[in-house]
Amino acid sequence: MEPSTQKLIHTFGALADLGQEIAGTGDFTEMVRTSLHLLLGTLALRRGAVAECIDEGSLRCVAVWGLGDELLSGWTIAETEKHQLLDAEAKECLVRYSDKSFISRNFDGLSNSGIELVLPMIVRGDVTGLVLLGGKASGEEFSNADFETIKAMTRHIGVGIHTHRLLEQVAQRAEENRRLYEELRAIYRDTVRAFAAAIDIKDKYTQGHSERVGRYSEIIAQEMGWSEQEVEGIQIAGYLHDIGKLIVDRDIINAPYHIDAKRSSDLNRHPAAGYEILSPINHPYADIPLMAKYHHERLDGRGYPDGLTDEQIPMGAKIVSLADAFDAMTTDRPYRRRRSFEDVVRDLRENSGKQFDGKVVTAFARAILKEVNGEAKKRPITKMLGKGYLEGENVRGLLTDLISELESRSRGAAAQTVTS
Ligand SMILES: [Fe+2]
Repeated sequence: MEPSTQKLIHTFGALADLGQEIAGTGDFTEMVRTSLHLLLGTLALRRGAVAECIDEGSLRCVAVWGLGDELLSGWTIAETEKHQLLDAEAKECLVRYSDKSFISRNFDGLSNSGIELVLPMIVRGDVTGLVLLGGKASGEEFSNADFETIKAMTRHIGVGIHTHRLLEQVAQRAEENRRLYEELRAIYRDTVRAFAAAIDIKDKYTQGHSERVGRYSEIIAQEMGWSEQEVEGIQIAGYLHDIGKLIVDRDIINAPYHIDAKRSSDLNRHPAAGYEILSPINHPYADIPLMAKYHHERLDGRGYPDGLTDEQIPMGAKIVSLADAFDAMTTDRPYRRRRSFEDVVRDLRENSGKQFDGKVVTAFARAILKEVNGEAKKRPITKMLGKGYLEGENVRGLLTDLISELESRSRGAAAQTVTS
């Protein structure tokens, strides 16, 4: 093989290696350093450096070989000088022949360091940085083929630096977006909580109801293994489930006795009204308007507004429904005191499968039991129910019985489905 062919193959090999190095996603400085070594090795050069243009034309040395690290420190390259370099042929960038002002201005520094060639890395018409090269180890002059190789490899390194910068910008923007998104989410949550407080203020007997329904819904969904995003969504739905009450007459909401049929039908408009209020809003979570709309539906079809049955009711609405009913049973109302925990558990057992979904009740009972058993890190349910409410001797037994009864019912239902 002729020496020139051999050299060509060698150069191609080096270019391929360089391409691979640049496409890699590893350490940026390492990538530039390896690229410089490949370039120096291919042409057997003694020394060289790669510098990138940073703010306002100042140069930062990214990789250096055979030269002092202090080279280029404090050097800048003016816009006009960039243009001169952009227009220059590789040969004109030879230090000893060039009158390009950047090179001639820094002639002493360059030639004292043994730099012979200063090449701009050009990407998309802009100077990304400079490649500085010393002479050949053999003392020979650069040939035309050498210049071509140098130009090609310089382009490669320039593209690598440019790509790296773009990726950095993308990562920075992504981080900014993430922060903005977090802020927006926090603002959304705070606004929703403010709304919940506004809803509850209208109803003087149920202060804090919406907030508690939000928390109970969150706890149930967590126990059911929902994702973080879904849990956040159901909490919001809980906060907002009664938003439709904003359009119901304050007297009806605050009636200190059981209301008559006409007033009751007015009050029963609130889930559909809530849906009307919530559906035009672009929520960051799915199905919030539907959870509000269907929080008074029942599995047996006797709920409102649409009289849906089991499968037709979204799981989120079933959760909010239980959280809502549980809070209603466990807080004082104008016409009655709150019910004992035993009484509440009896209600849940009797109404599972009719009003409530057994799976949802089971999950809630499990979450309460974890708190009672001291297995939970925090005890929000105990806190919301107030001191003493969950402290009866039989609380644990009531919950364990409820869970096993509901589980055996669901096993029975599953067996029936298989045999039928
Ligand atoms: Fe409601």
